Amino acid sequence: MNVSLQITVMKQIERLRFPFLLTASVLIPGMSALAQAEKSLPQLGKNSNKEIIAAMTLEEKAKLVVGNGFRMPGARPQGPTIGQTEEKVPGAAGTTFAIPRLGIPSIVVADGPAGLRIQPIRNHDSSKTYYATAFPVATLLASTWDTALVKKVGVAFGSEVHDYGVDILLAPALNIHRNPLGGRNFEYYSEDPLIAGRMTSAMVNGIESNGVGTSIKHYAANNQESNRNTVNTIISERALREIYLKGFEIAVKGSQPWTVMSSYNKINGTYASEEYDLQTTILRKEWGFKGFVMTDWFGGKNPVEQMKAGNDLLMPGSPQQSQRIIDAVNHDSLDVKILDENVNRILNIILQSPSFKNYKYSDKPDLKKDAEVSRMAAEEGMVLLKNDGSALPLKSQKKVALFGNTSYDIIAGGTGSGDVNKAYTISLLQGLANAGYAADDEVKQQYAAYLADYKTKHPKKNFFEEFMNPTPPAPEFEANKDLINKKADESDVAIFTIGRNAGEGRDRKLENDYYLSDAEKQLVTNIADAFHAKNKKLIVVLNIGGVIEVTSWRDNADAILLAWQPGMEAGNAIADILSGKANPSGKLATTFPADYKDVPSAKNFPGKEHPEQATGNGFMRQVPAEVTYEEGIYVGYRYYNTFNISPAYEFGYGLSYTNFDYSNLKLSSSSFSNKITATIAIKNTGKVAGKEAVQLYISAPAKTLDKPSEELKAFAKTKLLQPGESQTVSFDIDAADLSSFDTNRESWIAEAGTYSIKVGASSKNIKQTATFDLTKEIVTEKDNKVLVPQTEINELRSQRKAF
Ligand code: BGC
Repeated sequence: MNVSLQITVMKQIERLRFPFLLTASVLIPGMSALAQAEKSLPQLGKNSNKEIIAAMTLEEKAKLVVGNGFRMPGARPQGPTIGQTEEKVPGAAGTTFAIPRLGIPSIVVADGPAGLRIQPIRNHDSSKTYYATAFPVATLLASTWDTALVKKVGVAFGSEVHDYGVDILLAPALNIHRNPLGGRNFEYYSEDPLIAGRMTSAMVNGIESNGVGTSIKHYAANNQESNRNTVNTIISERALREIYLKGFEIAVKGSQPWTVMSSYNKINGTYASEEYDLQTTILRKEWGFKGFVMTDWFGGKNPVEQMKAGNDLLMPGSPQQSQRIIDAVNHDSLDVKILDENVNRILNIILQSPSFKNYKYSDKPDLKKDAEVSRMAAEEGMVLLKNDGSALPLKSQKKVALFGNTSYDIIAGGTGSGDVNKAYTISLLQGLANAGYAADDEVKQQYAAYLADYKTKHPKKNFFEEFMNPTPPAPEFEANKDLINKKADESDVAIFTIGRNAGEGRDRKLENDYYLSDAEKQLVTNIADAFHAKNKKLIVVLNIGGVIEVTSWRDNADAILLAWQPGMEAGNAIADILSGKANPSGKLATTFPADYKDVPSAKNFPGKEHPEQATGNGFMRQVPAEVTYEEGIYVGYRYYNTFNISPAYEFGYGLSYTNFDYSNLKLSSSSFSNKITATIAIKNTGKVAGKEAVQLYISAPAKTLDKPSEELKAFAKTKLLQPGESQTVSFDIDAADLSSFDTNRESWIAEAGTYSIKVGASSKNIKQTATFDLTKEIVTEKDNKVLVPQTEINELRSQRKAF
């Protein structure tokens, strides 16, 4: 393809990806000289925002609320990925407009949830690099059940944001794992909003402690990648409030992030970024959010409606958007007072930014220290799913037959804007070697040759070509039976890694993704048969970002370690768990269903397309689509537990190399007035030190409201308990924890009746139960009637009672 044709194609690809793309804008000038010259003008920080806004022209206002634009693919020098600025921080996702005469600097925003995504090499000069730490993906971090640890990750993460001159990180991301096929689930924490919200708060507090901002995303109900720019999400008020907004509410109240990023999708008919009730009524009036809202890249359609909704900044921005805003003010269809508020909110955040403070960033983060944080977090979030006959930790087995493509080519994290440009990734091969294990050479050679050959035949494409037509991962190398049998003789143990990758722009598939491929199934069987015949074990490592099917093959494995996508220290962290240097303490924050057909959203994912209403042609073709959340509040364990559907591994599940005893559950009172405290003693009764994630579920009376059989209301992770050591864990429960959203009354209601507190090691493994009474109903909150679906939803109800 010649260069100009290639650029044209890339432009078309980008329009397809961001269908509302207009054209790239010209980037901004620097600020200082002009600012000096105009001393008499009010200056940001020295004068009030009111004075600054009064001194701004309409054009300046309309440019400040619209980002500086998007560098087109094909422009030189090539940036790595989606958002591409060439200004202060190459490879960052965007910048805002500077107004030097008023002392308003441009600020820089960059992705993403697992590490800072900027261009690692500038101007082809590799003598100085700009790599960032790849931390474990959010799904792994949630599996730590440890908000203090996640905050620690945030502190390290934020220091890199600060050191690289970025003002706002476009993360964390906290959409709900509604369906295992969600392409971006790895970027998100959990199927449960309490975990999602608390992890997000911890992460935001950690990152922002460095004096930089965050953008929690994607607000809201962005639970799929299929048709993400056009899909109308039809959802009940209750499911929205209890499941899809709850995490954002917890995060806003618990960490007051600098910014929120609105999502692409429509909610009950209106684009999220154009929905006043989402961006203002709920976010600001009900929850008290004080920062600004920015769109996702090219999100929404109508800039004027976005301003009115309270979506203050349009990213990455185009001159046409500014023009439409100017025209609307001039034609009285946008009150300038609204625009002034948008501007004011942006200025408030700019005032806090490193750019405003003229921070002299070093471009030299302490990557070594942060890699240690990444490794430590990875170890804390890996989940031991199976461990028959104490297959793990490995004892004297030092000779390992290492199978699986991703043992050699491990996946640190997912693709798209959730990817990180890291300096290295430790493979499992390397990690095992570092820990003193010898991987069989013959097996290694065969994999190396196979993977090298695949790479030669599939040369690296650029980001845009890859987005349009992703290179499939190398099909699993089919190690032959003779080799496997030989290695069963020669080695002490077999390790087989199964890897999966996914990312922005696409949901996952069932075949060869959610389900194992035929080659993978065959390998599991062949390796298990050969090694079991010699009385040796098979350990399966799952290097995945989202849930896969395990029921059909797990009997073959002696142990299964869910390593997730553990960041750049992957191999070292996995080896630490396999060797027993670290004791696994992660537990599932998302259910592994027995089969896909059991998933409550399976029949409504990813929804329906309406090709007859399509507009545009070719790359510009847009197909309206809709998805109805018929499962309502019954997402994840709320469904499996209430409807008695046995999952493969339930929410909250995870094994340890030690055992824990739960005793002495006590409630501060047997009747509820406005708070109850529950305490429980956790004792390590095994032989090695370990930590336990303790979970508190509540079963409500469900007399007048439909309720899941259990809902997670609190959780904690113990400290490292030595054998024989105990810790008393305490949980506070308030009236809001008992309440559910009653759509008829637009209120959160804690019903009168008897409640059970169930403290356990998982959502199914309840160890101790206690009850208390609430004598009189409490209305904990009265909300606005907003975001009402326009069509009837045939919503799932619990069979516990007919409501
Ligand atoms: C993604 C966002 C990301 C933005 C900037 C969008 O495509 O959905 O999560 O922050 O690009 O790169």
